[in-house]
Amino acid sequence: MTKHWVKGISVLILFVFLIACSNDKTSDVAEDNDENSGDETVSEENTNDENSEQTESSDIQEQDVMNIAHRGASGNAPEATTFAFDQAAQTDHAWLEMDIQKTKDDELVVIHDDDIERTTNDEGEVGDFTLEELKELDAGTWFNEANPDKADESYKNAELLTLEEVFERYGKNENYYIETKSPQLNEDMEEPLVDMVEEHDLVDNVIIQSFEPSSLQTVHELNEDIPLIQLLWWEENEETGELEEWLDVTSAPEAMDEEDFAEIREYAVGIAPHLEDYDGNEVIDEAFVQKTLENDLLIHVYTVDTKENMERLIDWGVTGIFTNYTERLDEVLSKK
Ligand code: G3P
Ligand code: CA
Repeated sequence: MTKHWVKGISVLILFVFLIACSNDKTSDVAEDNDENSGDETVSEENTNDENSEQTESSDIQEQDVMNIAHRGASGNAPEATTFAFDQAAQTDHAWLEMDIQKTKDDELVVIHDDDIERTTNDEGEVGDFTLEELKELDAGTWFNEANPDKADESYKNAELLTLEEVFERYGKNENYYIETKSPQLNEDMEEPLVDMVEEHDLVDNVIIQSFEPSSLQTVHELNEDIPLIQLLWWEENEETGELEEWLDVTSAPEAMDEEDFAEIREYAVGIAPHLEDYDGNEVIDEAFVQKTLENDLLIHVYTVDTKENMERLIDWGVTGIFTNYTERLDEVLSKK
């Protein structure tokens, strides 16, 4: 079956899937995102205004590659803060990607690392702090220090967010790509997560992702209408030189067969592999992308920031790309 046929079928799957689960927004994309960095307020159009004309649009039916804003527009603003999410919300069709963890008092907060040291002015495990304590922290100055060329005074004292605050800020105007991070550390986070999605009536605006199949299977049991994505990370076994999936979820990319894909299809609508390992070696190729599509699974690749790589992956037929530069991918997609 030729590539285009495969792409056609996958796009069909994608459309059915996206029509079933997402709404959309149109907004005036800021000319130069850098120009807007530090601009606190997202344009009124994108905040939680259910009645605004912009929430329903047919645009999404022309797009067959999802633009997934990795921790928001984290290349331009402190990750997982209102600054990064507001900027990502400026880009058409972008999905707001985020990782959630549990606080000491069982609140769901949006933070990637298990330890708060890299992205705040304190240190320790997320789960050792109450929400109130985390809210005291400065989650923005680290970005200014790490990126002097993109620094912005308004990032200072940026707050860590709860998932509830994210839903309240953007409502149905945005789509959310939520990772259950370190489920073994954040036990039983799936039920409060699904409850919150249902309470905010966002089942059609959410994808849930995880490296842990058991976490996804729990979500699937709680609400099978929420589309799930199985994250994958392969590392080279130093002795054999073979690629091995770090949680032993499946085989190496080139060895994955129909059975491997069928296992994942039991609970997920797609997979999300990385493009490169820590040494910059690519772990997937066009054949792997096509094989995944032939096995009726979507494929979203992380984390891709160069236009060259974005164009190559789109040509390979991927159905989604995680990027820290949402506006850059939007530009590439608009030219395709
Ligand atoms: O969730 C997709 C990708 O972001 C996985 O890696 O470590 O950035 O969460 P990480
Ligand atoms: Ca993630």
